[in-house]
Amino acid sequence: MSLAMNSIRQLLRGLPSLAPPLPAFDVSRASPTPAAQFTDWLHHAIDAGVREPHAMTLSTVDPDGVPDARVLILKDLTDDTWWFATSSASPKGRHLTATPRAALTFYWPELGRQIRVRGPVITADPATSAQDFRERGASARAMAATGRQSTPKTAAPVPRDAPTDYPEWTVYGVAAGEAEFWQGDPDRDHTRLRYTATGGGWEKTQLCP
Ligand SMILES: Cc1cc2nc3c(=O)[nH]c(=O)nc-3n(C[C@H](O)[C@H](O)[C@H](O)COP(=O)(O)O)c2cc1C
Repeated sequence: MSLAMNSIRQLLRGLPSLAPPLPAFDVSRASPTPAAQFTDWLHHAIDAGVREPHAMTLSTVDPDGVPDARVLILKDLTDDTWWFATSSASPKGRHLTATPRAALTFYWPELGRQIRVRGPVITADPATSAQDFRERGASARAMAATGRQSTPKTAAPVPRDAPTDYPEWTVYGVAAGEAEFWQGDPDRDHTRLRYTATGGGWEKTQLCP
């Protein structure tokens, strides 16, 4: 190992994680569904001043089975489905067409909380996707409608005209089959609660840290 790599290792080892104070998680009082538990924690995160608590990592797999991940914004939560929006022509959109399954991960460092959700991916009806596109800001609409997301940047300018429709814009939902709520503890006695769909209901299991 080179000296430079060694000093980066030392730098990383010196960085704190899960620094106190962190809230407790009383699993005996957890909500009966993951959506209700998420809503409870989201309100807590907003009240605690967590920055961008609606930002989450979306993990997909490409057609060769190779995983990929990126950050997106949570757009809605209905029943136990977490919704986001993107272009079906983007790499992640193509992954979801080939393999409509995904995982979402939220991390709220100020609270030491991680939430994981995974399951099959569904698409909203076209009217919902069209409305979501129209509600985007003009520059976001103009950029999305170039269809150039994740393509090499060229000198060609983004068109100034912001279209009001772009058929590839799609609202996707992860219909949770499993969700996990993780509360970090500064002494590493973490609390983990997993919800597993049982077909009509939810089974809750507390996991070892
Ligand atoms: C905080 C944050 C929010 C983002 N929100 C979105 C979003 O809602 N939809 C989207 O398509 N990309 C969003 N992005 C950009 C994606 O992370 C990603 O770079 C882009 O969608 C291309 O991903 P892909 O090449 O895997 O398809 C966001 C990025 C950040 C950092």
